[in-house]
Amino acid sequence: MTGKLELIGVSKRYSVGERWAVQDITIRCAPGEFVVVVGPSGCGKSTLLNLAAGMLKPDQGRVLLDDRPVVSPGPERAVVFQEHGLFPWMTAAQNVEFGLKMKGIARSEREDRVAEALKMVHLSHSANKLIHQLSGGMRQRVAIARALILNPAVLLMDEPFAALDAQTRTLMHEQLQEIWDATKKTIFFVTHSVGEAVRLADRVIVLHAHPGRVRREIRIDLPHPRQFDSRDIAEIVRIVRTEIEDEVNRVNKELADEFWKPRKPADLGQLAGDMGSGI
Ligand SMILES: Nc1ncnc2c1ncn2[C@@H]1O[C@H](COP(=O)(O)OP(=O)(O)OP(=O)(O)O)[C@@H](O)[C@H]1O
Ligand SMILES: [Mg+2]
Repeated sequence: MTGKLELIGVSKRYSVGERWAVQDITIRCAPGEFVVVVGPSGCGKSTLLNLAAGMLKPDQGRVLLDDRPVVSPGPERAVVFQEHGLFPWMTAAQNVEFGLKMKGIARSEREDRVAEALKMVHLSHSANKLIHQLSGGMRQRVAIARALILNPAVLLMDEPFAALDAQTRTLMHEQLQEIWDATKKTIFFVTHSVGEAVRLADRVIVLHAHPGRVRREIRIDLPHPRQFDSRDIAEIVRIVRTEIEDEVNRVNKELADEFWKPRKPADLGQLAGDMGSGI
């Protein structure tokens, strides 16, 4: 089985002299594993995902897919972003078909594969709608179908449901678990939502910020699909949430120490009384 994704001792900084966005991170995803990276804003989640996608090159360390180095973006590592990035002048079906057309696949095969991909995301009835005629959740499902149609070994997802309302998000979680179960793809997913992470993941990786490092890994051996009302889920949500809260508090303290602030409020003396009474 393919889809073994490995980030081995990767470090990345965006310019010399700046802090490392991620530093010496090792994450190994087994074929078919669902790995979710969580952490506060700016801790390096998207950087990690872009390294896995081959859109960024690590300054140190290696990225491997099935033991081969990842050097550029490729169809075996499909990416779904928070912003769907669909072509607005095309229908849902045409967007999903686009990658196959680029690969020169024959029309009859394209039609079958598009129909299958749209069925998988429950959008068969909206195939001929333009993107603006679809809801936010439907657009993200088109983006997922577009990624799946190329039959990638790995699905890389960067906060794909962040812009959706709570109900649509829950529906998307159910559908993604269904798709994952049907395709057994390796999924590398980043989010800042603890509930989303615990609901979906085989393994949650909590990042440490500034520099981005692995703070804690939590394996979740509960069966899929998962519902939120179970006591086991609630307990793991609590553990992961505490871990992130501690991390946010640590970062805030560090930032507070870094920025200049007066030791005691300035004494404005007479001036304070002369500032006018307003209008
Ligand atoms: N293109 C870039 N140029 C310079 N610095 C960058 C660039 N992209 C990210 N960074 C910096 O790298 C660090 C990690 O950013 P990254 O986007 O990976 O975080 P994130 O965890 O995805 O955050 P968010 O939850 O807000 O999406 C941040 O300090 C950010 O300012
Ligand atoms: Mg990000």
